[in-house]
Amino acid sequence: MTRIRNLRAAALLLGVSALALPAAAVEPVVVPEQPVFPAQGKITYVPRDSILEFKALPSYKEPAWVTEKFVKTGKLPPVGERLPKEPMVFKTGNMPDGIGVYGDTIRHVIGGRPEGWNYSAGQTQGWGGIDIGMSECLTRTAPLFQVEAKDMEPLPNLAKSWEWSEDGHRLTMKLVEGAKWSDGDPFDSEDIMFYWDDNVVDSNVSPLNGATPETFGVGTTLKAIDKYTVEWTFQEAFPRQHLYAMAYGTFCPGPSHILKTKHPKYAKTTYDDYKNGFPPEFLNVPVMGAWVPVEYRSDDIIVLRRNPYYWKVDEEGHQLPYLNEMHYKLSTWADRDVQAIAGSGDFSNLEQPENFVESLKRAAQETAPARLAFGPRLIGYNLRLNFSANGWGEPDERAKAVRDLNRNLDFRKAVTMAVDRKKLGEALVKGPFTAIYPGGLSSGTSFYDRQSTMYYPFDLEGAKALLEKAGLADTDGNGFVNFPVGTAGGADVQVVLLVNSDYGTDRNLAEGIVGQMEQLGLKVVLNAVDGTKRDAAQYAGRFDWFIRRNDQDLTSVVQNTTQLAATGPRTSWHHRAGTDGSVDLMPFEQEMVDIVNAFVASSDNDKRAELMRQYQKIATSNLDTIGLTEYPGALVINKRFSNIPEGAPIFMFNWAEDTIIRERVFVAADKQGDHELFPEQMPGKPGDSGPIN
Ligand code: GLA
Repeated sequence: MTRIRNLRAAALLLGVSALALPAAAVEPVVVPEQPVFPAQGKITYVPRDSILEFKALPSYKEPAWVTEKFVKTGKLPPVGERLPKEPMVFKTGNMPDGIGVYGDTIRHVIGGRPEGWNYSAGQTQGWGGIDIGMSECLTRTAPLFQVEAKDMEPLPNLAKSWEWSEDGHRLTMKLVEGAKWSDGDPFDSEDIMFYWDDNVVDSNVSPLNGATPETFGVGTTLKAIDKYTVEWTFQEAFPRQHLYAMAYGTFCPGPSHILKTKHPKYAKTTYDDYKNGFPPEFLNVPVMGAWVPVEYRSDDIIVLRRNPYYWKVDEEGHQLPYLNEMHYKLSTWADRDVQAIAGSGDFSNLEQPENFVESLKRAAQETAPARLAFGPRLIGYNLRLNFSANGWGEPDERAKAVRDLNRNLDFRKAVTMAVDRKKLGEALVKGPFTAIYPGGLSSGTSFYDRQSTMYYPFDLEGAKALLEKAGLADTDGNGFVNFPVGTAGGADVQVVLLVNSDYGTDRNLAEGIVGQMEQLGLKVVLNAVDGTKRDAAQYAGRFDWFIRRNDQDLTSVVQNTTQLAATGPRTSWHHRAGTDGSVDLMPFEQEMVDIVNAFVASSDNDKRAELMRQYQKIATSNLDTIGLTEYPGALVINKRFSNIPEGAPIFMFNWAEDTIIRERVFVAADKQGDHELFPEQMPGKPGDSGPIN
């Protein structure tokens, strides 16, 4: 038996068709309909210009203690002088509970850990909304979940307005004028150009969310015209799509006056010194966001206090934010759910189905401290196979052989047909939550078309036949298929599956895959590492397969669009440039790249919808990714908070931490708790050991 299989495998490798196995053409079908799970909370759609504007108001206000303790003592200039000429004004009509009052804190709990504050150089701050609250970006997209489709375009933010040249190749952006970093240093085009030239374009530096020049289109350039004007040039005409890439997290500049002191171009330092020059202990790092980090206790908490120079106000002139403080307790993601439900934390994106049933039960009680609302099915997971055969991640012989398999459609079909998605979903939670998800665009995006979503149903026997067709047989009879003789010494095929160990769901899915692949006869071993290490391994291409929770490219299509395919050397999650700088695209991937580029270049809604139908068909029938499961998430937020928009999804253009517009969130006076750890204190100077009195 062993010998025959071996021969067969060898013959197949030589392309001897006479020995071809019965597994003839396996064709996909349209994916089945999903179980109905109605989203809770009705979204009220509004015109884009009803949310905010930029204008001067007759006078400005701030918390009384700021005036008393900081302005009157000369520690801070008066509020009017700290604000830009024309601050951003949030319109009252769009604020669910209207103008707020000052005080209190959001007690976040997060599962990540801060590497340091250098977001521009790729350091994580621990996720869970901490970096989102510190960052401000050229444009903003999270609040678009409520904007009418006909009006869809990112909101202004650091860029307060923009204008296209007649031919559509140039875009001139006006920056908010006279805004300041939280230490009082002026914000201007120098910050924009430092971020672009010395972080995005400098290939020694890779910003946290992976921005590269191609994120904004191949051949795109950016230059400063004056202090408050920058100009983009694009190869395409009117690529309005790139305005989305200028939002979180790919165009959020850092404080150039501080970062330059450690960047090799300006200081006698290395790129390593630059990346690691601002560790978590470096407090009071200047931000444009609403809160500044003033306290860090390892494995315990990060505390942020209000930014005295924040450049946004309400219509009565109150400088925002209303909340004086932000907490990030350093715990686990599962604990975030538990604490938010119990009331010792204030916020969670309920995204791990293992916690759904308990959380729902508690939230249904009248005494529950938090409200919980499910949104559409926008949380999804994919298994991604490393498609690079030209050296990304420097694979050894075994890894190279696995990549060749990854590039073989029969092999991918075998893998997907061996995935029992019903079982995978039910292992996470029983009930109508999880749905069969074959990969590709999320069913929650407006670009989703079920008829274009192709699916290879679960069929273990068919999968086994395909594995043989791909040249793999169990030559040593141990239950696992071997490489053909001559490849990796004919050893058992062993696939290393990279997974983020910070989340129960990721681990459970990965373990489910290991078990299901064992049924197929494919040996998969886990490389479960924390989120930071997972990201590092993934960006460096050091993986055979990995499991990744979907990002905005799949859930919104318009956000992070260039990640939908290998449109640039470092845009795709699972296929990046090899050692020679090129991406060795397979023909279907080239088609995907062309479609995504055409989508970006087009402003015609019907054409864009059609392009995404084509994308979906190609991606799912060729198994660009192997979908695992898809389910809805719920926003859990303590009942004392006001101005939380109804229907806010936990994830669409960005995470809910941004979607709910935290700078406008407040706690009514009679509901305020004694949560502030540094009452009546303000951020100190950059690098100081804490806040000041
Ligand atoms: C993590 C969490 C998400 C969300 C994001 C914000 O990924 O799992 O729920 O809080 O951080 O960046």
